[in-house]
Amino acid sequence: MKTVFSILLVLSCLFLQQRNAISKTHVHVVDGLASNNPPLKLHCASGDNELGWHYPKPGDDFNFSFTPSEVVTTIFFCHFWWGAKDSAFEVYNTDGNCGKDNSQICYWLVKEDGFYFAHDHESPPASAYVKKSGW
Ligand SMILES: *[C@@H]1O[C@H](CO)[C@@H](O)[C@H](O)[C@H]1NC(C)=O
Repeated sequence: MKTVFSILLVLSCLFLQQRNAISKTHVHVVDGLASNNPPLKLHCASGDNELGWHYPKPGDDFNFSFTPSEVVTTIFFCHFWWGAKDSAFEVYNTDGNCGKDNSQICYWLVKEDGFYFAHDHESPPASAYVKKSGW
């Protein structure tokens, strides 16, 4: 009986671990600008997660991961500054950007003419990106 219980315990831990690994969502923000002049600056946060200020260089990938809640809406937003321009939007929303695609990998590519989005790919090819908005 004790052995059966131990086996069940180990199995349920394995199951939970796997479920956790599978349900993590990764969001990437890639600096796709051609030059660092002017440099990109960004700040990301959710309601209870401060992801800080970031000063990427062209090609840099700022990324974070989290386990979306199954009960409440999860929202991460980022604010971007580039020269005189600035723009802010939700990089993840359970019911919107990234979240509604039901994807565990989301990429945002920041370019001179705006923000491009791709999902389901690790290091997406240029052809996978779709423009979402201008600055
Ligand atoms: C994600 O960010 C880390 C730094 O926090 C970086 O080392 C890594 O290269 C990034 N991932 C990708 C796929 O570029």
